[in-house]
Amino acid sequence: MGDQVTDAGWWSDAVGYEVYLRSFADSDGDGIGDLPGLISRLDHLADLGVDIVWVTPFYPSPMADFGYDVADHTGVDPRFGTIDDLDRLVAAVHERDMRLLIDLVPNHTSDQHEWFRSALADPASPYRDFYIWRDGAPDGGPPNNWRSHFGGPAWTLDEASGQWWCHLFLPEQPDLNWANPDVRAAFEDIITHWLARGVDGFRIDVAHSLVKHPSFADNPVLVEVGPDASAGEAFGAMRHDHDLDQPGTLDVYRDWHRLAREHDAVLLGEVYLDSAEAVGAYVADGVLDLSFFFPVLHTTWDAEVLRHVVTATLTHGRGRFAWVHSSHDDPRAPTRFGGGDRGRRRALSFLAFTAFLPGPLFLYQGDELGLVDGEVDPAAASDPVAVRNTNPDGGRDPVRTPMPWSPDAPNLGFSTGTPWLPMPANHTAADTVDAQREDPGSTLHAVRRLLRTRRERRPGTDPVELLAEGPAEVLGYRSGDVLVVLNAGDRTVTVPLPGPVELAFSNGTVDVGSGRAVLEPDAVAVMEVTT
Ligand code: GLC
Repeated sequence: MGDQVTDAGWWSDAVGYEVYLRSFADSDGDGIGDLPGLISRLDHLADLGVDIVWVTPFYPSPMADFGYDVADHTGVDPRFGTIDDLDRLVAAVHERDMRLLIDLVPNHTSDQHEWFRSALADPASPYRDFYIWRDGAPDGGPPNNWRSHFGGPAWTLDEASGQWWCHLFLPEQPDLNWANPDVRAAFEDIITHWLARGVDGFRIDVAHSLVKHPSFADNPVLVEVGPDASAGEAFGAMRHDHDLDQPGTLDVYRDWHRLAREHDAVLLGEVYLDSAEAVGAYVADGVLDLSFFFPVLHTTWDAEVLRHVVTATLTHGRGRFAWVHSSHDDPRAPTRFGGGDRGRRRALSFLAFTAFLPGPLFLYQGDELGLVDGEVDPAAASDPVAVRNTNPDGGRDPVRTPMPWSPDAPNLGFSTGTPWLPMPANHTAADTVDAQREDPGSTLHAVRRLLRTRRERRPGTDPVELLAEGPAEVLGYRSGDVLVVLNAGDRTVTVPLPGPVELAFSNGTVDVGSGRAVLEPDAVAVMEVTT
């Protein structure tokens, strides 16, 4: 199903792992994860079977959005380490036969970036046009009805000049003006800088919204929302005809693609659009190599929804949508799937189901432990989405709590100081890497086994045939000799098999034999057809 990839690179089969740097491992006791901490934990990733380490922004930043507000694209924030640490990270990742992906944030900068400081201080500055400025509406309000993802209007008034600047995120994250060729040139320099320094590619933040419609017209309103709406609800209440996914965006990536190819580097987009067809355009030949497809990461445990996202990925992703189950922005899979042991079991089953389909597979830190969202006391809220809105729904602190490493150390081994976000009470000794390493029945062992099985038995470029027959709550496919079946329903199911099979990986209770597989609810079976 779906065309096969024509210019597959080293990334097309890889296992990626997202490190949310701030919460991964703190080496110096300041309560904030850092580059030396990450280096000290790389063996955990190598043992797991990771090929690509994606590290979230480490650049100098006022941290209004915890590093996604970049003040200097080629530096390292002292809280995260030094440029030497970064070089050490590149070398340490390569020594372990892994590759390093860094985050590139091209939609906006920090308001403390020297470009914006100059633009704000002096409307005649050459950097003024690096950003988007408009006069207000005749009533004195913002230039149009665009909303910020993080709540409130997407415009803030610069009283000195009387113009408004555009920000699809915080006011402290002014959007860059991608209609300006100097902005393009500046980013090509940034990309070249990092490629020369040895990084193996970029995860491109908010890759779908760089270019804005030149009319700056209002977006059509779909539903009126009241003041109690969450930031997400308010953003979703309009059709984003003029601020997202605009013509011209892909041309930016065509230029970057040429640069990346010179270094055999990969470009992975955060293309946060719901339509698989729209996301598919970003991974056409010569544009981005890969994209995440976020409906996969938003699924609930419902056979129809799961089937839909899998089918859409196969049809439009063509091996270039990276499978992703959790992230630093969205609820973790075990939580979405009901929480507790059941949510954990389901998350592992769906992870295994996607592991043998075309496309790389990305884990988020803690996925290998079956970690559920952390419980964060509202008084400790840090995420601007939670702090700046009266309705904090969508706040991301619960998915950013520090990584639990070891049962006996302070703060479960994350930090000897006070963690920037408290260790949640619902993450216990049993959730730690060290405890799970000792327990052959743990999620950690299961994920490691899964990734090993994937490496050994992955069907490669064989076409995928979705199983059309069988109970409605069963999802299944065959690719080459690999046959994978998942029971997303509430009753035990019997699935007919095409012939003798060998069970390669399972999760939940599975009985395979004599022409059929019996799967209890939430179970997955990965089989190899032996004749
Ligand atoms: C992306 C990041 C998110 C950040 C936003 C603004 O969605 O993943 O964490 O807040 O971009 O940069």
